[in-house]
Amino acid sequence: MTLTYVASVEEASEALASQGYLADRPLALAVHLAVALEQPLLLEGEAGVGKTEVARALAGATGARLIRLQCHEGIDVHHAVYDWDYPRQLLALRAAEGGVDEGELFSRRFLLRRPLLDALEADPANPVVLLIDEIDRADDEFEAFLLEFLADFAVTIPELGSVRAERPPVVILTSNRTRELHDALKRRCLYHWIDYPNAQLERAIVHARIPGVSETIANRVVTAVGRLREHGDLYKLPGVGETLVWARALLALGEDADLDETLGVALKVHEDVQRVRSRSVLDGV
Ligand SMILES: Nc1ncnc2c1ncn2[C@@H]1O[C@H](COP(=O)(O)OP(=O)(O)OP(=O)(O)O)[C@@H](O)[C@H]1O
Ligand SMILES: [Mg+2]
Repeated sequence: MTLTYVASVEEASEALASQGYLADRPLALAVHLAVALEQPLLLEGEAGVGKTEVARALAGATGARLIRLQCHEGIDVHHAVYDWDYPRQLLALRAAEGGVDEGELFSRRFLLRRPLLDALEADPANPVVLLIDEIDRADDEFEAFLLEFLADFAVTIPELGSVRAERPPVVILTSNRTRELHDALKRRCLYHWIDYPNAQLERAIVHARIPGVSETIANRVVTAVGRLREHGDLYKLPGVGETLVWARALLALGEDADLDETLGVALKVHEDVQRVRSRSVLDGV
């Protein structure tokens, strides 16, 4: 693996930071180990804590190609691995007036590579970071398929045979934990829970992501999201993404802008907004 930039915990941390992603030590360690041990890394955490961005930052820092598979309900092998290009097969059939043999129709010429096949067939000289995003949205069957995929980095295409990666990609899986994943899948992976950052780290993230933002803005939004997260009675808590938008909002409106007025950048549930306003949660921030 030529992801030589992440040969230690410190280097992993620096690599991510070079992309504006500030990781605490446990996360940097998890990323370093995923690369060093060539084992998939499963990142879990609440919405907006920076799970997806880890893969982007890692790819950006190391010059690896990022291949992303967005999971959803009903995702199957034809979305994830390969499909046949039916319109082109049909055209070929018509052009040949039926004189095409089946082997030709189901050859590489008509094969559409989806993200997982793309990752397996990547040029070993150019490393790949494979992001399997929001795996908790896929169903059991697909999870079982992934288990096999991650076990030997190979897939079988009935018409073509088996395809195996010359060099396994770095794999990052993310989950919002809308459901528990199977133990078997977890056992294949290294695991890290990304928590909300502490206030000091979150202020640093604001400064890293929004050049020119003032201390006052960083302090105010980080204190405000801290209060909302501690409130304990909200449907949806703001993630780091919301902190950043809030800081940008204050940058646009002026650093003394009223936080209650701009709550809509951080909270997306009507009752949450009402609760926070009526209980004066942000008073004095
Ligand atoms: N540690 C961090 N350093 C810098 N930026 C961060 C960090 N954590 C999160 N962000 C930023 O916050 C935003 C949300 O991050 P991201 O989309 O990766 O979250 P997520 O956990 O994947 O959310 P979701 O569960 O909604 O998919 C992004 O703009 C990302 O760049
Ligand atoms: Mg995400």
